[in-house]
Amino acid sequence: RSPRRLVIVSARAPFVSTPNGIVRAPGGLISALLPLMRRARGTWIATGADHDACDTSELPFRVRALSIPSSMRAAWYAGASNGALWPLAHGFVEVCRFQAEQTRAYLDVCRAAADAAAENAPPGAIVWIHDYQLALVPALLRARRPDLTIGFFWHIPWPAAESLRVLPWASELIEGLLGADLVGLHVPRYVRAFRDALDELGITHTSDGGSIVVPRGSRAARIEAWPIGIDVEGWAKLGRDEDVAAEAARIRADLGGGRVLLAVDRMDYAKGIAERLEAFERLLEQSAEARERVTFVQIGVPSRETVPAYRELRQRIEAAVGRIQGRFGALRRKPVHLFARSFESTELAAYYLAADAALVTPRRDGMNLVAFEYVATRPRPNGRLLLSTTAGAADVMPEAHLVNPYDDEGLVSAIEHVALAPETPGDAARMDALKARVSRLSVEGWASDFLARLSQVTDERVASR
Ligand code: UDP
Ligand code: G6P
Repeated sequence: RSPRRLVIVSARAPFVSTPNGIVRAPGGLISALLPLMRRARGTWIATGADHDACDTSELPFRVRALSIPSSMRAAWYAGASNGALWPLAHGFVEVCRFQAEQTRAYLDVCRAAADAAAENAPPGAIVWIHDYQLALVPALLRARRPDLTIGFFWHIPWPAAESLRVLPWASELIEGLLGADLVGLHVPRYVRAFRDALDELGITHTSDGGSIVVPRGSRAARIEAWPIGIDVEGWAKLGRDEDVAAEAARIRADLGGGRVLLAVDRMDYAKGIAERLEAFERLLEQSAEARERVTFVQIGVPSRETVPAYRELRQRIEAAVGRIQGRFGALRRKPVHLFARSFESTELAAYYLAADAALVTPRRDGMNLVAFEYVATRPRPNGRLLLSTTAGAADVMPEAHLVNPYDDEGLVSAIEHVALAPETPGDAARMDALKARVSRLSVEGWASDFLARLSQVTDERVASR
């Protein structure tokens, strides 16, 4: 077979232009795909990209930013994607708004992406489509280009069947995805939820080990769990870097030498940032030791501010920080620091090193790469990871300090424990185990194994014809 080139389709292009220049786009999806595309030659089609940031003459791949009219883009991105599918998948059904005009825009953007992929993909190419913003692309693309091998990765939780019932276009969503040869989800729990959705809709399927097989005429779509990873060696290298270590020491000194807690999130209600600050506030109310010794650093990257729920969240976060400062701060001591901006990975690594514990307590999260990065960066097995049971990462990191983020008292005492409990040999054992887990979850392996599996299932399909 002739060499096949890779076409990536996602809502985001790898870079965005900001007042500070062109920077990497936010979020875990770009963290995962950028290293892959730096190695592979191919085309990256982006529907929500800004054109200024798409000059990739220095890079080994092409970026094609689609020109989507701004009102359509808003209805697709802020409306159907982030006002409906995102809250639905993260269990915030009350936040969801379903509007027919937004659903139409979603279909139009998916169609534009499918057309661009159809026009750019060489014969027999692999097209790998990403995430909930583009879920209808697989079926639309297959209708135009049956010669292509089509993969899809859904980077967020798969909603419970009960929640999916409220989506007026649930069956179109599933049919759209089933246009792919292979649909990846992060963990087996999401694959089981997908099976429930197929059952609800009466779509025939069979099981093959952990994967679901859905016959579609002469072909089949497979749904499988493919836990994503990170650039393990890249983060470990930053963790060993002398400049990063010196910066970490400076951060600790600036914070006054006590215990340092860290959280790193986009400002998203699914990340549980406001609830975490409120839990920290209760800890300060209850514990004199915490008032004296514990500092909480929250890095909160502004996100999706055209969506009202996100603007309200930012205000709630800033209000909580101000209130905590007002109640517990002193001239020489701030119990909480909020950075409402994005950090480069070198700066982030210094904060990871500086922190005695990472608080990864989303209400829901597809996976959560920050949990992996905190572990991978540490040269020694020190530090504690507090992790929500409701994050995909909990399924692959059972040695973390696990907490139910909806349990108010449980969250306060878990934060107290990771902040203040005396160190024991059990701590190093846990961190060693976590490091072993994370080192097996390289993003490079994730991408190449997914693509190999995609070729394999397609070859089986072709051979059985
Ligand atoms: N990140 C970053 N700078 C920041 C904050 C986060 O580069 O200031 C990166 C972080 O290193 C991680 C990603 O953004 O790779 C966040 O991914 P995650 O899966 O935790 O959450 P998402 O934003 O995708 O929901
Ligand atoms: C999550 C989603 C990605 C998205 C990222 C950042 O990781 O799974 O698809 O790109 O958040 O969100 P944004 O809306 O800024 O692209």
